[in-house]
Amino acid sequence: MSKENIKHLISLADYSNEEILELIELGEKICNSPKDYAEVCKGNVMATLFFEPSTRTKFSFESAMLRLGGNILGFSDANTSSVKKGESVADTIRCISYYADIAVMRHPKEGTPKLASIYSQIPIINAGDGGHLHPTQTLTDLLTIHNYKGGLENHVVGLCGDLKYGRTVHSLIKTMARFNTKKFVLISPEELTLPDSLKRYLNDTYDIEIKEVRYIEDVIEELDILYMTRIQKERFFNEEDYLKLKNSYILNEEKIKNGRKDMIIMHPLPRVNEISYEVDDDKRAVYFEQAKMGLYVRMALIIKLLEVE
Ligand code: NCD
Repeated sequence: MSKENIKHLISLADYSNEEILELIELGEKICNSPKDYAEVCKGNVMATLFFEPSTRTKFSFESAMLRLGGNILGFSDANTSSVKKGESVADTIRCISYYADIAVMRHPKEGTPKLASIYSQIPIINAGDGGHLHPTQTLTDLLTIHNYKGGLENHVVGLCGDLKYGRTVHSLIKTMARFNTKKFVLISPEELTLPDSLKRYLNDTYDIEIKEVRYIEDVIEELDILYMTRIQKERFFNEEDYLKLKNSYILNEEKIKNGRKDMIIMHPLPRVNEISYEVDDDKRAVYFEQAKMGLYVRMALIIKLLEVE
């Protein structure tokens, strides 16, 4: 069983606001002078265990560890590991604990990184568990918001797309609620609204206005942040439902023309077709910068969890 004093990142609910802000601040410091941190993880090994596809999360974690002077090992296709032979996650992580100092895990089944943390002797980072949570994407989002909007508080935050299955949305909304968000504007088709349990939790816990609408154009003027998301094809039970909803949103210049000049447009990526390429040239589009921020905040997280600062 896990050593009790090991710190993991399974959910940001386990972190205080101060701890979250510390990570953001360290991420900012690293972004401003990455060379200062080039040796801090020397001699440490990070394992990346990806049971689901990934580009940014996996690469940014691996790049983060390499840029901190550490080493990496792992798999991006579980079929090449003994999981294919029927090994449990518990047994896998028990052994990987001997080969690495920290592990990053993405899994299609909600709760698997949590389960791994129970059997692990090293810090486990949840890199996305099914439609549940994606805490390091949220840290990436917070660093981006902090950087572009000068702070995390008092924003009108619009979240658009697949609010039902999108783990990035679930993580972000729960965390932003803790930082005095002025209002959440939920933009989705009826079939993909935010789960009722999450809405109830927000209403019971915070005094934040929540507005639900179908179209971006109806609310664009009031947004400080527009967070676009991909329709999560892999979480649908049948192809037909996905095909019906896949083109629900295609953001273009016309749809954002009445948006505030200082609004920012975010997206965790990958985008499929929910943002037209013409929007990339809009000064308010920050999604590629956002992907860059993911590197620095993950460097900060590795430093904190390995306690090597
Ligand atoms: C997101 C994810 O995996 O949930 N991607 C990412 O990590 N940046 C978003 C998505 O896949 O739509």
